[in-house]
Amino acid sequence: MGPLIFITRKIPEPGMELLGRKCKIRLWDKDKPVPAQTLREKAKGVEGILCLLTDKIDRAVMRAAGPKLKVISTMAVGFDNIDVAEATARGIFVGNTPGVLTEATADLTWAVMLALARRIAQGDRMMRGEKFTGWSPTLLLGADFSGRIIGVVGMGRIGQAVARRARGFGMKIIYHDTRRLAPSDEHELGARYVALRELIRVSDFITLHCPLTRETWHLIGSKELAMMKPGAYLLNVARGPVVDEKALVKALREKKIAGAGLDVYEHEPRLAPGLAKLDNALLAPHLGSASFETRNKMAGMAAQNLLLGLAGKIPAWCVNPEAKNHRDS
Ligand code: DGY
Repeated sequence: MGPLIFITRKIPEPGMELLGRKCKIRLWDKDKPVPAQTLREKAKGVEGILCLLTDKIDRAVMRAAGPKLKVISTMAVGFDNIDVAEATARGIFVGNTPGVLTEATADLTWAVMLALARRIAQGDRMMRGEKFTGWSPTLLLGADFSGRIIGVVGMGRIGQAVARRARGFGMKIIYHDTRRLAPSDEHELGARYVALRELIRVSDFITLHCPLTRETWHLIGSKELAMMKPGAYLLNVARGPVVDEKALVKALREKKIAGAGLDVYEHEPRLAPGLAKLDNALLAPHLGSASFETRNKMAGMAAQNLLLGLAGKIPAWCVNPEAKNHRDS
């Protein structure tokens, strides 16, 4: 009947179908995250775990699963929810789904940015509340994009896709990353590399696309928010804890910056106290990759990664191929 696997929540059909043909599936079939204790119980004795970004896959889970566990495959590009060092030491491969969600996430970034700066959600609330009394020369004025500076923090696949769209809006593009792009890529994107401090000081729109690591935790806190231009906007479509959300609420409440567009939250799905009351915040429920086509591709890719790991092979998209050395020893 194939190897026993645990899928922490039903994923789109291409993934379920592929795994259904090859594996014996244990499934958490509720449409909410599996509680930590249940996750450990369900992991017992499995050879593979297909998880989501809402599941914390730590040492306790791996220990509960036991020595048969060969692969953890997450249906996400971000893998900060998984203790990769622990997995590597145990010879367990960790797979993720980069690439297929790049364009959808860049689209969503722009949807949030446009809606925020042109106050679309506020307008929608006004219409539904029957508060619109007719056109006015000063009603819900927002910001222009053309000629303004966009600062991209994290110029990986998604950052670059956001930058490409910015060119179409006639913006000046600057970026910061731990690794600088090749001169030819910078030229093609029309993007200039700057220090993070400078990016924060001069950008009209700062958009975050870095992974969550020890180094990027609270990358944007009260000090950085105070350095931003008063008319600038902050976008976070990366991971919530990259921004100190409490400090952000304070900056927004005191109108130290023009606004913030968030798709991710420090204590997701909870919001920092006061955030939901602020009209200069645009809040989306972690929709970065949420298109039908993209989620289907992510599910298929996560399933393929899992199957390769189950067969003792390095998953096609693997964040710790070196786990193989620990497996063989
Ligand atoms: C990811 O894949 O990491 C995204 O956050 C999902 O939308």
